[in-house]
Amino acid sequence: MDRRAFLRTTCAGMLLAGGGMAWAQSTPRPLPIIPVTDLTGGIEDRVSLALNLSSHDFGTGVASQTFGINHDYLGPVLRAKQGQTLPFDVTNNIGDTSTIHWHGLHIPGEVDGGPHQEVKNGSVWSPDVPIVQHASMNWFHSHMHGKTAQQTYKGLAGVLLVEDDASLSSDLPKTYGVDDFTLILQDKMFDGSGKMEYELSAAVFEDGFEGNTLVVNGAIAPVAQTVPTGLIRLRILNACNARFLSLSMETGPVTVIASDGGFLSASVEAESILMSPGERYEILVDMNSVETNALNVSLDGEGGGFLANLFGGNKTTTALSLNRSAAKGFDGAIPTQLANLEPPQPADAAVTRSFQLEMDVGADLAALALAWDNYCGDAGAMAINGQPMKMDGIDDEVRKGDTEIWRISVDDQLHPFHIHGCSFRILSQNGGPPPAYAAGWKDMVHVEEGWSEVLVRFDYEATKDAPYMYHCHILEHEDCGMMGQFTVT
Ligand code: C2O
Ligand code: CU
Ligand code: CU
Repeated sequence: MDRRAFLRTTCAGMLLAGGGMAWAQSTPRPLPIIPVTDLTGGIEDRVSLALNLSSHDFGTGVASQTFGINHDYLGPVLRAKQGQTLPFDVTNNIGDTSTIHWHGLHIPGEVDGGPHQEVKNGSVWSPDVPIVQHASMNWFHSHMHGKTAQQTYKGLAGVLLVEDDASLSSDLPKTYGVDDFTLILQDKMFDGSGKMEYELSAAVFEDGFEGNTLVVNGAIAPVAQTVPTGLIRLRILNACNARFLSLSMETGPVTVIASDGGFLSASVEAESILMSPGERYEILVDMNSVETNALNVSLDGEGGGFLANLFGGNKTTTALSLNRSAAKGFDGAIPTQLANLEPPQPADAAVTRSFQLEMDVGADLAALALAWDNYCGDAGAMAINGQPMKMDGIDDEVRKGDTEIWRISVDDQLHPFHIHGCSFRILSQNGGPPPAYAAGWKDMVHVEEGWSEVLVRFDYEATKDAPYMYHCHILEHEDCGMMGQFTVT
């Protein structure tokens, strides 16, 4: 048994012995509809996001200590329109320094909300964030260096939907909470008393933190929703710290219409879609011909992790059940043409860069887990190109407007790689073409065997005081040093 396999076995054993239990239930709870802050009709005031220390009952009957953004757990769904500038006031009252990063937005480094834009407890950060990109599902979350994993897990995350003229007039379901739903999928660990817990150990550094219970919009799965007859749109974010989720439908294939950075050129049908932490997909569910359907999550695929059997003892669990009512809803058909997407042109690339993600640069993870009190600090236990993340070092300098090829390879395990300030196209994933549903605009790519390559261009500036990040989106890996920073000038 190699060292990692050994750590896995030991850790699974400890969790079972320690009474970690899954809190899946047989009767679904109602799907929580996250309150939407809709700015598409115009912005009159500054947009307040208050980061708070709070408590929340996920459905275990007891309250867990959480962080929330305007709410007791997670943030609102923000809906904005291309061309607007969002005047945020981010107020931090969590009792610790934090940051809020706008994951997926094409914005300059100085408003990106990465680890350099710290918001001290008791203070306000007021960036004006320009929305220049097309319709896309983005999100925001803590990016506090060394504490991203812990703070995001506790609830500092939310969704930011960008619309544009085309998406607002498109023939797609778009009535929020009626035929258009935002789903935030997470896995949580609950102790025997029903309190959410987060504990780092050497094994958790290795695999990232994986919970034993699936949570949808802050409620333990399965959740259920009554929907009208017609097409239903689900906008899905995998906001797990470390888990890859394989999504499928109870009835029929998954119909994917958009990925991280916007609409696909045409809808794609897939038996299942594999979502890494940080990824977003939009899917359509046809409720014309079925009375019930369900979005299922299975953990037995690639990267399912060693805790797969802890989700209520099943490999597959229902995230969301849909029950059709007699009401008439969106009566259009699944569109065939969605956006004009040219095939990527790798010949345009002026530069090729290589990134090697490294799991182990010799630090004693067990000692670090004890020393750092559930965060990674500046542990520097993992690296990219031999260099653990250093707040005061610039790893790459990119020329604004240049098209580049980034080749990312790994020394072990499956990692989700993310780049700030852009959307890119995947040229190859693990040595082969990406699945059709991942062939559009992305800001996340899976890297396992061989390498993955993306074609990317940066159109906004990031100076050395406010550089962009690239990193593994397994948040414990990111915190442990599997991150680098780059300027665009
Ligand atoms: Cu979603 Cu740098 O992160
Ligand atoms: Cu990001
Ligand atoms: Cu990783």
